Amino acid sequence: MMKTASSQPFRFKKGLQNTDTSFMIGNEDFLGHQQTPRKKLHKLKRKAWLIGMYKILQAEELTTNIFLMVVEAERVAKSCQPGQFIIVRMDEEGERIPLTICDYDRKKGTVTIVFQIVGAATHKMAALKAGDGFHDFVGPLGCPSEFVGEDLESLRAKKMLFVAGGVGTAPVYPQVKWLHEKGIDADVIVGAKTKDLLILEKEMASVAGNLFITTDDGSYGRSGMVTQTIKDLVEEGRKYDVCVAIGPMIMMKFVCKMTEELHIPTIVSLNPIMVDGTGMCGACRVTVGGEVKFACVDGPEFDGHKVDFDQAMKRQQIYKTEEGRAFLKAKEGDTHHGGCGNCGGND
Ligand code: NAD
Ligand code: FES
Repeated sequence: MMKTASSQPFRFKKGLQNTDTSFMIGNEDFLGHQQTPRKKLHKLKRKAWLIGMYKILQAEELTTNIFLMVVEAERVAKSCQPGQFIIVRMDEEGERIPLTICDYDRKKGTVTIVFQIVGAATHKMAALKAGDGFHDFVGPLGCPSEFVGEDLESLRAKKMLFVAGGVGTAPVYPQVKWLHEKGIDADVIVGAKTKDLLILEKEMASVAGNLFITTDDGSYGRSGMVTQTIKDLVEEGRKYDVCVAIGPMIMMKFVCKMTEELHIPTIVSLNPIMVDGTGMCGACRVTVGGEVKFACVDGPEFDGHKVDFDQAMKRQQIYKTEEGRAFLKAKEGDTHHGGCGNCGGND
């Protein structure tokens, strides 16, 4: 039987205990109002307004529909870790867009984000240029990758394989870079549909132990999907203690099928629909090992062999329509939450 989600206040859930709320200047809808006296918040908001937005220092199109931006966000840059994500809003009424962190520079106080145009909001975001800014830049959200807290000696003894699919290459990069900086060189597979859609190849090559590129159409590197390369590498005699897979849900599902057969424990980073990113709205609900989890606070990384991918993919589709959200509310009962104000669950 499915267990119900914890009813702990969201900020005491795993991953938010140490959340630095001071970065939330200008984010009245988020955690700030729960923790900051009204007067102080007003002052902070005013200060933020005067200081200006989170300035975009660099904006470029990496390939068709995939963009990279370097954003001035000192507090996020200071505390973020591989595996975490942020939520941006372009203006006060704007949609909240969750984005994985691709890189950060603590000295310069910058955070690099990579995103793909998937709808109206990201389409609008792609038009922003260097010198423009975000109204909100909230983070770091979610839990850091598990290895960040591991003992370095035991980490060095492990052979890690990262599998990055398409835009999923962006969140894989800071993880491999973090390990490289600690003297640990992991193997990395990067998969893209075709050569032109490959991103961050040079950057990944500079931090990976061995980099294997694969394209679905065989236009560059190895031919076929990432799963084929995993199989090939193991058949070539390579041994892996752990695999980290980040990319489209369908890719992660099939990577997990493959690594289960090969007996390689696998971590995946889930990116279901997110609204508040703080565990309140319930939009990012997933089932892991038969338990209800919320990707934004319990994840985004989970044991891939325990994730119910079929349910997660189905839910993504259902959540898109009003009728679907009403259906989920009725079906999920108490664990649906509904604090987002979008799904009707808070009626
Ligand atoms: P894509 O569809 O081009 O796929 C990238 C690679 O994944 C392919 O080249 C292939 O090697 C592999 N792949 C795809 N389907 C597979 C299958 N059925 N079996 C085995 N391997 C398969 O990727 P894209 O268009 O860049 O992906 C966009 C998606 O990635 C969006 O849905 C986005 O939400 C998601 N995404 C996820 C994360 C995350 O944190 N999990 C981060 C960024 C983007
Ligand atoms: Fe995770 Fe709202 S986005 S609960």
